[in-house]
Amino acid sequence: MERISRRIGGIAPSATLAIDAKAKALQAAGEDVIGFGAGEPDFPTPAHIVEAAMEACRVPRFHKYTPAAGLPELRAAVAAKTVRDSGYVVDAAQVLVTNGGKQAVYNACATLLDPGDEVLLPAPYWVTYPEAIALAGGIPVVVPTDESTGFRATVEQLDTLRTPQTKLLLFVSPSNPTGAVYPPAEVEAIGKWAAEHGIWVLTDEIYEHLVYGESHFSSMPVLVPELADRCVIVNGVAKTYAMTGWRVGWMIGPRDVVEAATNLQSHATSNVSNVAQAAALAAVAGDLDAVATMRAAFDVRRRTMHELLSAIPGVSCVEPEGAFYAFPSFAGVLGREWAGRPVATSLELCEVLLDEVRVAMVPGEAFGAPGYARLSYALGDEQLVEGVTRVAKFLAA
Ligand SMILES: Cc1ncc(COP(=O)(O)O)c(C=O)c1O
Repeated sequence: MERISRRIGGIAPSATLAIDAKAKALQAAGEDVIGFGAGEPDFPTPAHIVEAAMEACRVPRFHKYTPAAGLPELRAAVAAKTVRDSGYVVDAAQVLVTNGGKQAVYNACATLLDPGDEVLLPAPYWVTYPEAIALAGGIPVVVPTDESTGFRATVEQLDTLRTPQTKLLLFVSPSNPTGAVYPPAEVEAIGKWAAEHGIWVLTDEIYEHLVYGESHFSSMPVLVPELADRCVIVNGVAKTYAMTGWRVGWMIGPRDVVEAATNLQSHATSNVSNVAQAAALAAVAGDLDAVATMRAAFDVRRRTMHELLSAIPGVSCVEPEGAFYAFPSFAGVLGREWAGRPVATSLELCEVLLDEVRVAMVPGEAFGAPGYARLSYALGDEQLVEGVTRVAKFLAA
């Protein structure tokens, strides 16, 4: 008998966290590392949110267990915020407060999937999705996309891969890792196709407020109301309010799905920390000024990053439209020797760049997209320029 179960033994370690840990270990050892790996804003959590958490520490009710589905006032505030921000009308009973958006993804997959159910998963995908699907017994069916469509899947592609076993589509816009944003007409077409074929949609809206230029965020069940009974939304405070460490997210869905997921969560983790929920309440009930400031800074960095990367011979980069990632192709520089080492893959390239010039990027292999790498532009302007310049100089040598 194996020591580790097959289900858990089959989980791949998170490549994004691994590269981030290696970069941070080098930094701690005094090395001058530029980290493009992290998927988190470099801004502090706004002061009024931190204050709300400090006040919550002194409230005796918060020293005790609270309902597993979340503080009633937070569930109501999330419902109100959802109407405000995306126009989707839901009530508090449709909201389950989770330990970050990540737990919402797990809850949703565990609640919706039976062994053998197929899940359409456009690639490049966020590292957690295939693992959450597989852990629930589902089968990820990868829908490959590339620069030619701006990393967006089409209805035709999805339909080609549809089988009688297709239960769910995993949809994310703005996307991690590509920064792609689906225009409203495409969101609507995909939603209508899903509704027509009785396919559920798990739509991840965590980057809803981080869109740039002419791009526009749109929520699928708002554009396709007939999908609402088969649609689960994932969201959270992490990216909008610079609150990655607080661990508050939520899933929104039909009542029966939310009740079933709450049963699961009541046995797995119970309520999310009350102090963090109080902070999240201050965040979602407040204004969007902080995210407007961050968005303006990210927009400048996004353009700088795109320009610098596109200027490197052998590197091509689609201009990201949302989130805070660039996803360039390094295919043109692979298959050669760099620093005396053969570099055939983007994984090897990322290793060489960290070893030789102390720049951390996440290889595309982690996102089901070999040949690419993900660079977060949620870091200071000077560091950003320095990091990409190091890559450019290294590749020019
Ligand atoms: C696409 C996407 N969804 C969900 C999450 C989950 O965020 P958290 O668990 O920190 O709320 C992330 C975080 O990186 C993400 O990139």
